[in-house]
Amino acid sequence: MFVSDRVPDLPLDAIETPCFVIDLGALADNLAVLRRVQDEAGCKILLALKGFAAFPTFGLVRQSLPGVTSSSTHEARLGRAHFGGEVHACAPAYSDADFDELLGLCDHVVFNSFSQWQRLGPRYARHLAAGGRAVEFGIRVNPEHREVEVELYDPCGPCSRLGVTRGQFRPELLDGIAGLHFHTLCELGADALGRTLAAFEASFGDFIGQMKWINLGGGHHITRPDYDVEGLIAIVRAFRERWNVDVYLEPGEAIALGTGVLVARVLDLVHNGMDVAILDTSATAHMPDVLEMPYRPQIVGAGAPGELGHTYRLGGMSCLAGDVIGDYSFDRPLQVGDTLVFRDMAQYTMVKTTTFNGVRTPSIATWDPLARRLQVHRRFGYADYASRLG
Ligand SMILES: Cc1ncc(COP(=O)(O)O)c(C=O)c1O
Repeated sequence: MFVSDRVPDLPLDAIETPCFVIDLGALADNLAVLRRVQDEAGCKILLALKGFAAFPTFGLVRQSLPGVTSSSTHEARLGRAHFGGEVHACAPAYSDADFDELLGLCDHVVFNSFSQWQRLGPRYARHLAAGGRAVEFGIRVNPEHREVEVELYDPCGPCSRLGVTRGQFRPELLDGIAGLHFHTLCELGADALGRTLAAFEASFGDFIGQMKWINLGGGHHITRPDYDVEGLIAIVRAFRERWNVDVYLEPGEAIALGTGVLVARVLDLVHNGMDVAILDTSATAHMPDVLEMPYRPQIVGAGAPGELGHTYRLGGMSCLAGDVIGDYSFDRPLQVGDTLVFRDMAQYTMVKTTTFNGVRTPSIATWDPLARRLQVHRRFGYADYASRLG
């Protein structure tokens, strides 16, 4: 996993932990890259809310991106209320009630199957007859081309439920369908998109020309320093010109990559075979991808075990025995009250936190590097925990 080495110069002593801090300067830099891709490739880039939805930053993001994509009515509502612009939806299935609500919120709704389209499509006529807004519909396809190594994140794995394969595609049901969508990548480069597009065109080329738009999903790590931005621009521009269609990309990670940290403190130090530090954060509740993916987050000033003089296992404050972030070394012994800064914690963290064990959810703050201003937008407390349970 890529980790940005850019760290905001935060007033750590003043931060009540745990706290996610989003660096607005780093976010603006990412957005500049995404603006360039849109301008030069002639495509639109949407923010995938599933990856990053800290809406106090939306005023800034909206200056560069035309809209959001959502995976649920809640995300679509958040997008409509706090972002504006185009709101899209794409999810494995919609209930009748969710679909009706999405019709009032979205510009594009993408179906994961022709059976959903057949079942829900007729509700759109009723929506229009009642004076509802115009919506365009798409079908998510599965190009059956695998690029993602981690099975948990591979939408093209065996028996995947995500997207219609060529074998299941129903050309006779395309009336009313304006676009095709695929999402097959995860943290990948332009080369992976190029290969995927070739597979998509080989399987679905008969239908692309009839479409108004094609959505190339997310998983494009566009703002990573070694990403081939020129390559992406060339691939997207050529595809758009070849087929005369509008092109959308909908990354989540690429917007937030390298823009946020999680600031935590040491609560206790114990010893059992090795030194162990217990922090006021939790892998399972605050950074679940550390356990799910799994990956080892980087900590400012810390090294691999044994690399620096004092090695610790860093654990979370939940009861889960495996609530362990990893083993790290430091150049001096840790002490209760020490602050640790976990890098690259803006994406897929705030949107995934849980209150397991009642652990306090990290606050959400922004850091303006020019004004040197830390603004805490949200502190979570007992009411947030209790309100989910009854
Ligand atoms: C349909 C769809 N679009 C976009 C994304 C965003 O992907 P990423 O945050 O990896 O760019 C995802 C992630 O799972 C997705 O499932």
